[in-house]
Amino acid sequence: MKQLVIHPVKNLQGTLAVPGDKSISHRAVMLGSLAYGTTHITHFLNSADCLSTIGIFKAMGVKIKQSGDRVTIVGRGLNSLKPPRQMLNAGNSGTTARILLGLLAGQPFTSRLTGDKYLRRRPMRRVVGPLIQMGARISGNDSGNYLPVKVETRKLKGITYELPVASAQVKSSLLLAGLFADGTTKVLEPTPTRDHTERMFSAFSIPFSQRGKAITVKGPVMPFKGQWIKVPGDISSAAFFVVAGLITPGSTLRLMNVGLNPTRTGLLNILQRMGAHMGVTYHKTRGGAEPIGDLTVATSALKGVEVGGEIVPRMIDEFPIFAVAATQARGTTVVKNAEDLKVKESDRILMMAVTLKKMGAHIQPTPDGWVIKGPTPLKGCRISSGGDHRVAMALAVAALIAKGTTTILDTENINTSFPGFSQLLERISVR
Ligand code: S3P
Repeated sequence: MKQLVIHPVKNLQGTLAVPGDKSISHRAVMLGSLAYGTTHITHFLNSADCLSTIGIFKAMGVKIKQSGDRVTIVGRGLNSLKPPRQMLNAGNSGTTARILLGLLAGQPFTSRLTGDKYLRRRPMRRVVGPLIQMGARISGNDSGNYLPVKVETRKLKGITYELPVASAQVKSSLLLAGLFADGTTKVLEPTPTRDHTERMFSAFSIPFSQRGKAITVKGPVMPFKGQWIKVPGDISSAAFFVVAGLITPGSTLRLMNVGLNPTRTGLLNILQRMGAHMGVTYHKTRGGAEPIGDLTVATSALKGVEVGGEIVPRMIDEFPIFAVAATQARGTTVVKNAEDLKVKESDRILMMAVTLKKMGAHIQPTPDGWVIKGPTPLKGCRISSGGDHRVAMALAVAALIAKGTTTILDTENINTSFPGFSQLLERISVR
């Protein structure tokens, strides 16, 4: 079992670029595999989760070449996927599994999908339910709620579906199924979630419409061509360094080429409300393309804040590192409406409460978030990340300002989203 040993630092200094965005990398491979002709992806996230997506499309006969962060896909069109010979494996990647189920439901062949021991515990009903309404036949444990599942071939028909939980994975899964369905598929979002699928549809010239809360595709769609896709740096990876720079005394960090899609920048907005010294410079990008920019952060005296409502989906993956920031903020921080954190790679409400408490923080879990009182000094200890990559990296940041050494156990899964994390942290650490 892999572990990370972190010693406290004097401060953090430097300029860095984080690897490519995970959500966008997955979607680029999926749509590139359905396109006709060559798709070139640059700054692709070469991590275990995205390699699971590549592996799955290779298993369905797509020619994909990868060299570091460059990927070339020779697609043969919307209806070119081949029946896989083995069970498809999404590894640890919930995004791969959930979005792919929509795509598989629309194929003229039967397939089976599984994942690792963590993913096999995560609920799939949120996508399986509406896909069955579209006519899909999906079976597995607990009526297809848990992997492994079998997806049998059925003709799909478009439906109107109001998402009960704000989820980009569910929205994207239904939109992909909608590409193969007869008629109109309309997805209504309670609050906006990341819109990378919609932006990727635009990049591939796939027609869709967005009016208010409704996103609509009409299937079956016409063939579309391969594209050049440049993946921005992942704001969810940058978030660890943003918070590290804010809470470590005497630090200044500059992060280059970070994706700044407004459906992902909730953490930055909240940190600014907490008093963070942060500079944001946007690059020039074409309308509709993913916004990119550079961030500068300097150590700041943060104050407690209340977080809930529409901002929650805009910072959903950042809550573990946000909890670390809140332990160093003056006053009380309350997080509400974040119950979906319980079904991420681990129960993140519980994991962050247990681990940060062990490090000396005042953190109380609630059914839908935490109450955190700060600032509290942290102390190094031996803690498990529960195999959750974002919990592991959040604890590594907390360990930078802790007294004594921290050993984080079960850190192998950092590779699912951020290979090279500990080397990058070491490069900017001044001791
Ligand atoms: C993702 C959506 C989010 C997020 C996940 C990636 C995506 O999940 O937590 O890491 O790429 O669509 P939900 O859709 O379950 O909120």
